[in-house]
Amino acid sequence: MPGWNIAHLCRFLQNPMTFVRDVERECGPVAFFTCGVRRFLLIAEPELIAQVLVKQSRQFEKSLAIKSTRRFLGNGLLTAEGADHVRNRRLMQPAFHMQRVAAYGDSMVQYAEEAQAQWKDGQEIDIAEEMMKLTLRVVGKTLFNSDTGEVGERVSQAMSVLMNLFPLFQLPFFPWLEHLPLPFVRRMRAADATLNEVVLGIIAERHKDNRDEGDLLSMLLNSQEEDGTGLTDEQVRDEVLTLFLAGHETTGNALAYTWHLLAKHPEAAAKMRDEISTVLGDAAPTIADTRRLPYTESVITESMRLYPPAWIIARGAMEDLELANMPGVPIPRGTTIMMPQALVHLQERYYDDPLVFRPERWTPEFRDSLPRFAYYPFGGGPRSCIGESFAWMELILVTAVIARKWKMEPVVPEHKLVLHPSVTLRPRTGVRVKLRRIVQ
Ligand code: HEM
Repeated sequence: MPGWNIAHLCRFLQNPMTFVRDVERECGPVAFFTCGVRRFLLIAEPELIAQVLVKQSRQFEKSLAIKSTRRFLGNGLLTAEGADHVRNRRLMQPAFHMQRVAAYGDSMVQYAEEAQAQWKDGQEIDIAEEMMKLTLRVVGKTLFNSDTGEVGERVSQAMSVLMNLFPLFQLPFFPWLEHLPLPFVRRMRAADATLNEVVLGIIAERHKDNRDEGDLLSMLLNSQEEDGTGLTDEQVRDEVLTLFLAGHETTGNALAYTWHLLAKHPEAAAKMRDEISTVLGDAAPTIADTRRLPYTESVITESMRLYPPAWIIARGAMEDLELANMPGVPIPRGTTIMMPQALVHLQERYYDDPLVFRPERWTPEFRDSLPRFAYYPFGGGPRSCIGESFAWMELILVTAVIARKWKMEPVVPEHKLVLHPSVTLRPRTGVRVKLRRIVQ
């Protein structure tokens, strides 16, 4: 079992994704590590991932890194454990049923139309920034019924402050630091105050006039167990912040990587555009169309294979255990299990020419032939992404609206995509493309 030295640690902190890739290359798809007193197990085998995420999921909890986001996400769905998680997931599930989610489709289309209406032929833009603005607006509308984007903007700025401080929250002595009069502590407190003021303020307003705005917030405020109990205002606050964070960055990045790939593969872009024109004609896309655009769906599927927006899933072992399909290999309590989509999605045994962008590979037969966890951008098991249908709808509708009006071209000199694997996989220096208006 290799032990980590300080050089390994530095490499890990510099780029954890390259680091786990090197580990797999050196030690294979199942490898134990230690770093000081902490133990890690890298697993890049679909059957073993299924065992951790699904079959033996009760023996695992969220990783320390995710737990440290409790500092600002409280006990929302992403961070809650055990009975709290089961109850909250049950309460929130109706808000994500296809019928309910479908009601948000029109806003997604409208905002995508408005965003592209600002663009000019020949303009060079950072499409990652544009897509993030767009998904932020969508989340503001669907969560708080806020059309202006103003509420979303305030929440987003406060959250960025806290996300940038995220590595500090993981330090064992952070609780002491928090009491010192340091500039970052002041920034952090101001951000906390903004989040409370904005979100609890909106909740208080809703209580006053008791209206159902048809948004996720109303769903959360009205959700009830059979015994009539629901979520407290603080719980609703935690869920709202969790959905806000989980709901826009991943989707924004998925769209940005898709445009990056389409700019580099004009033949795929043309084929996708043909499909969209044939299916939609001159009409705006609707939720019903999302199932009638299989090639567009394959493009996005392939994009999330190459650039999974959630690039790794991690869990902590809650007890000394063994995986049923890996007998004789003890996993001590406290071991962090790392299961990176960024490695599994690129394995040659599942994908021919794994580094090549090839949407055509996603035939129904190919999908059926893949083991369940050879492709898992949305995770799996009881902690799988609750927003998967929401995300798919947004990805396809936004792509369809933009692709029928614009072609993306690579900028000259070519913009290099630099990946920054943080909580999500971000493009460090954006994604620059040149816009070409399509003349109908
Ligand atoms: C392309 C877009 C998205 C990707 C790739 C993605 C990916 C994921 C993944 C991998 C997980 C599981 C994490 C784990 O097992 O530790 C997750 C959980 C979650 N996602 Fe997403 N997500 C996306 C969009 C969304 C959207 C649009 C929402 C909400 C509107 C959302 C809300 C959540 C929540 C609340 C959880 C926690 C679920 C639980 O633990 O019960 N996600 N997501």
